[in-house]
Amino acid sequence: MEGSIAHPSSTRIAVVTGANKGIGLEVCQQLASAGVTVVLTARDEKRGGEAIEKLKALGLSGGVIFHQLEITDASSIAALAEFVKARFGKLDILVNNAAVAGVEYIQEFDHEKFGGLDFDKRLEWMMTNVLETTEAAKETLQTNYYGTRNVIKALLPVLLLSSSEGRIVNVSSEFGRLILISNEKVRQKLNDIDNLTEEALDELLDKFLKDFEAGALEANGWSSGFAAYKVSKAALNAYTRIMARRHPALRINCAHPGYVNTQMTMSTGVLTPQEGASNVVKVGLLPQGGPTGVYFAQGQEASFL
Ligand SMILES: NC(=O)c1ccc[n+]([C@@H]2O[C@H](COP(=O)([O-])OP(=O)(O)OC[C@H]3O[C@@H](n4cnc5c(N)ncnc54)[C@H](OP(=O)(O)O)[C@@H]3O)[C@@H](O)[C@H]2O)c1
Repeated sequence: MEGSIAHPSSTRIAVVTGANKGIGLEVCQQLASAGVTVVLTARDEKRGGEAIEKLKALGLSGGVIFHQLEITDASSIAALAEFVKARFGKLDILVNNAAVAGVEYIQEFDHEKFGGLDFDKRLEWMMTNVLETTEAAKETLQTNYYGTRNVIKALLPVLLLSSSEGRIVNVSSEFGRLILISNEKVRQKLNDIDNLTEEALDELLDKFLKDFEAGALEANGWSSGFAAYKVSKAALNAYTRIMARRHPALRINCAHPGYVNTQMTMSTGVLTPQEGASNVVKVGLLPQGGPTGVYFAQGQEASFL
């Protein structure tokens, strides 16, 4: 399903992944309010269609169009890339927002009972109320890292055709910070951007999965509690830095939205989706000549460590 709107050639075009709900949906709304034409993507046509109807009802200035995108499906990615090229001949902003948490919550967050908890206590509740399986760990790496990487590769040619420094915002997380990995060798490898390669990243992720399956995460210095999610975001951060070096004409950055009230956090977060999204949009709309290869935590430049 694809909507149709007219757009002058000077209008900036954005693609947002995983945009049928949560932070992604709000990112679409804020970009469209800023006059950007947004391709709202979702893996499920029905959920995507409902999202687009909500935004269209707001009469946003930039306009929104739906296109299906399952980021773990090569043919779906190729169809989106083809659509963007044929329809716009360029892409100005790619927001890689789609992700999974890789966990199953073992109980509901009772807002009446726990609503008064502070940030740390909410996070602690979340960390201690999840189940993590090998299957979910594999899905998490396939979605958050490999899926996102494949979307970037497919859309790179149209991003390079942007006349306003094509931008990629990889929605990352505080959980991707290197300080959480106590294995010093792994941490150094991920931080050694002069020498880090995609192949080395693949090897690290394979090793992580082996350790996960063997129940040897802590023994090998990986962080437990949302283990696969953390590694997927650390790998995405590293890939962001590799790509920023490889493509200096583009602005390629990571953005941590904050701890946000969405389905991913079972609404335990402390920020609204609007607030989380504005931390992402801010990075996507940085003025020309701005930073690249940088990690932004809630809108501020911060350390990958
Ligand atoms: N919430 C937080 O506190 C927080 C903190 C740090 C970082 N983040 C990051 O912020 C981003 C958005 O998270 P959120 O909190 O808004 O989560 P959310 O409400 O669970 O939304 C996740 C979105 O990703 C989509 N998605 C998942 N797998 C996909 C796939 N294979 N292909 C295409 N779409 C897929 C989901 O689609 P379906 O509806 O079809 O499942 C949904 O639209 C994520 O990158 C997350 O890691 C969130």
